Amino acid sequence: MTEPVAALVTGRSAARAHLQQLWSRGAAFLGCDVAIMGGAMSWVSERNLVAAISNAGGFGVIACGSMAPAMLDAEIAATQALTDRRFGVNLITMHPQLNDLIAVCLARGVTHIVLAGGIPPGAAVRAVKDGGARLICFAPALVLARRLARTGTDALVIEGSEAGGHIGPVSLTVLAQEILPHLRDIPIFVAGGLGRGDAILSFLEMGASGAQLGTRFAASAESVAHDNFKQAFIRANARDALPSRQLDDRFPVIPVRGLVNEGTKRFLSHQADVVARFQSGELSREAAQLSIEHFWAGALRRAVVEGDVETGSVMAGQSVGMVTTVQSVAEIMDELVGQAVAALEARGAALGAPQHLGHSFALPV
Ligand SMILES: Cc1cc2nc3c(=O)[nH]c(=O)nc-3n(C[C@H](O)[C@H](O)[C@H](O)COP(=O)(O)O)c2cc1C
Repeated sequence: MTEPVAALVTGRSAARAHLQQLWSRGAAFLGCDVAIMGGAMSWVSERNLVAAISNAGGFGVIACGSMAPAMLDAEIAATQALTDRRFGVNLITMHPQLNDLIAVCLARGVTHIVLAGGIPPGAAVRAVKDGGARLICFAPALVLARRLARTGTDALVIEGSEAGGHIGPVSLTVLAQEILPHLRDIPIFVAGGLGRGDAILSFLEMGASGAQLGTRFAASAESVAHDNFKQAFIRANARDALPSRQLDDRFPVIPVRGLVNEGTKRFLSHQADVVARFQSGELSREAAQLSIEHFWAGALRRAVVEGDVETGSVMAGQSVGMVTTVQSVAEIMDELVGQAVAALEARGAALGAPQHLGHSFALPV
């Protein structure tokens, strides 16, 4: 004879088990307990933050950015000294030494390589796969997601325009609906604007295998970002994290989401000045475009490392409104998991029985 044992299996442990089941594919793929990736952030995602995320049960990712191969090699070695758990490395496909960087990762036994900044070249895909590492790419639309899955990508990140840093035009809400129901072949991690565990849960229920967060970890205690940078995050609301603005159709600006400040204001007047100089014949089109592109050179480092949050580039997602204090990575992770579990638990309580969670709670008695 069996009878329901809701009284024996507490709602909380059942909810935890269900969450574990929901992101089991993502966790197995990454080789960690909690299928939450720390999105690579240039100047921020270095040994300390990456190791802290992996040590807290998640999956840290080193941001290679513009590092030379020798620097990346040292960063990987230093991270390995701080954690014996798995972590990944994010490489930008436009990096002139991409192949050398991949070789460094493989030689150091990095298990997961993220290729960001566009569709990866075939040679890079082959090098990662032949070297035995798992390849993670970004998919900005369903057609590209399918193509990446067909050509060897092992997992995808779909990042909505709510995210901090370089962004595409489509929100995560829409990307998730466009991609998750139609592509089940490989694990998909959702990113952009995520600050709470119950929100992550809703995407897992749509078919995501896990999530990637940046902004919340950038303001963590283990993040090496300058205190001014973290305090700017704490002060900011979602509406303060805006994409960079383009003044003239003839001179495209790559959209980057960050906190509005004196620098973003000056960027507008810089564009106006450059356009006027182009129109007067003082600057060629190429020189004008280059001048606009160079405006932000070194600006993220200035904000993150030097703490210049007035004129530097304070990249942040709309999730910045959910950063209210500096917390340790473990606290953030616990909070995210706790919110997801609480949401599942509350639903079970509201329905009066936990069976809808997908488990059999009947034990022989
Ligand atoms: C300060 C900052 C720097 C970032 N730098 C990079 C980067 O170098 N490479 C990259 O692929 N993504 C970068 N991102 C995006 C993150 O990896 C992540 O996908 C994003 O932060 C997720 O959205 P969220 O900020 O709302 O959590 C950056 C984000 C921030 C906030």
